[in-house]
Amino acid sequence: MNLDKTLESIVYPLIGKWRNNFHLELPFGLMNDPCGLSYIDGVYNIFFQWNPNGCDHKTKHWGLVQTKNFINYSKPILVLKPDSHIDKDGCYTGSATVINNQLYLFYTGNVRDKNNIRIPHQNISFIKDNTVLKKKNIIYDSPCGYTDHYRDPYYFQKNGIHYLAIGAQNSRLNGRVVIYESKDLESWTFKGELNTQYTKFGKMWECPNIFNLNDKDILAICPQGLKSEKYKYQNLHQSGYIVGKMDIDRMIFIHNEFEEFDYGFDFYAPQVLKLENRHILIGWAGMPENEEEYLTINDGYIYTLTLPRELFMKNNHIYQLPIQEIYHLRNKNIYNEKENINDNIDLKYRKHEIVIDIDVKENNEIKFGFKDGYISILYDEKEKTILLDRSRLSIGKKGIRKLKLKDESYLKLDIFFDVNIIEIFINNGKYVMTALYFTKDTSMNIGLKNSNAINEINIWSLNSFHYEN
Ligand code: FRU
Repeated sequence: MNLDKTLESIVYPLIGKWRNNFHLELPFGLMNDPCGLSYIDGVYNIFFQWNPNGCDHKTKHWGLVQTKNFINYSKPILVLKPDSHIDKDGCYTGSATVINNQLYLFYTGNVRDKNNIRIPHQNISFIKDNTVLKKKNIIYDSPCGYTDHYRDPYYFQKNGIHYLAIGAQNSRLNGRVVIYESKDLESWTFKGELNTQYTKFGKMWECPNIFNLNDKDILAICPQGLKSEKYKYQNLHQSGYIVGKMDIDRMIFIHNEFEEFDYGFDFYAPQVLKLENRHILIGWAGMPENEEEYLTINDGYIYTLTLPRELFMKNNHIYQLPIQEIYHLRNKNIYNEKENINDNIDLKYRKHEIVIDIDVKENNEIKFGFKDGYISILYDEKEKTILLDRSRLSIGKKGIRKLKLKDESYLKLDIFFDVNIIEIFINNGKYVMTALYFTKDTSMNIGLKNSNAINEINIWSLNSFHYEN
């Protein structure tokens, strides 16, 4: 089967009972990490991990969609393919940079030898007009002291020097980030390990990102193997960041405590696109656990990407809100009440933004009801917690996630409700909770337990993303 031709012939919008309206997803196969996020000639490139051959974590390619405005998109195509000796078992995650109008991709070539021993390759690829001109191995294997879990090169620059941060596992099975440097992008030298205060913090750190926000240095990592705590690390793998001051010459990072990006169920491996005037984060909305419960698998595809989120720094904490372009999806303001808020609001379909301003001094529960179950958001005033509960759904993934609020003087939820995913931005993006969910229903009902303690509700119907056929 010629996949490129098949992709060309697919007509959009995609039809299916769980097809989302304003989240990026694929006609078939498995989608995971966003990678190679870049901006060139007025176009944003959103690359991502794609297994076009099935819904399992095999034969990873880099797919690509392009957009100028985050509303109209090109159809997904396959760009990097595992078709050479430097990436034959998968073109794994990586990053991009644009220098003199040339797009360079850095990625991990997953390569296994004839004895099935993995030899991680870090590669560079030169791209023109969405085709690969050349691929080249730049870092061969992991150095002494590290295992074969050595991947996800993230490009950054400081004082005119090119750097790659690589997610690693040391021989004692602790997660680490190592740094390489280069003057010409093609020959790279091992600079060493970035020293943080986390010497034992998970067994592998995937997908590092290094960037700067409001003069603070940030290292984002995805630690695997952290033990879950009452309000922390509730998913199989975690994703978060540390904020502080990085001395790249001495390889020392003085930083605050690790914070998670998202307190929901389905968020991992985010990548940050650094632009002159803003930082945009896109995450993988998924988790590689019990994948058969993501029921779209029966329709031949699995997972989606989160909304693109702009990052803001306040008091050493990263706030995330959908980028302003996403707010252009607002179609009609279909409900706006302060005084006479109904206990029940019916919505005919699920393509809405729902903003709820809750009285922070009283308990509350908001139920998103379907014919076959409901999702609820429970606010406990005493405990200062928010619970996202999808255990009352009758099909698909279930469970409860708990968020412990810091001292909040108000509580405002900005909820983006799509057919198969909900993203909840709390208090102007101070906290986010993301969840995929499954229901056989096509409509929904918003049920309010304590409408008296709600200050305002505002609901917009949204427009869909549009793919150019
Ligand atoms: C994170 C990850 C990366 C790897 C990629 C493979 O989800 O495991 O470390 O490069 O997925 O698809």
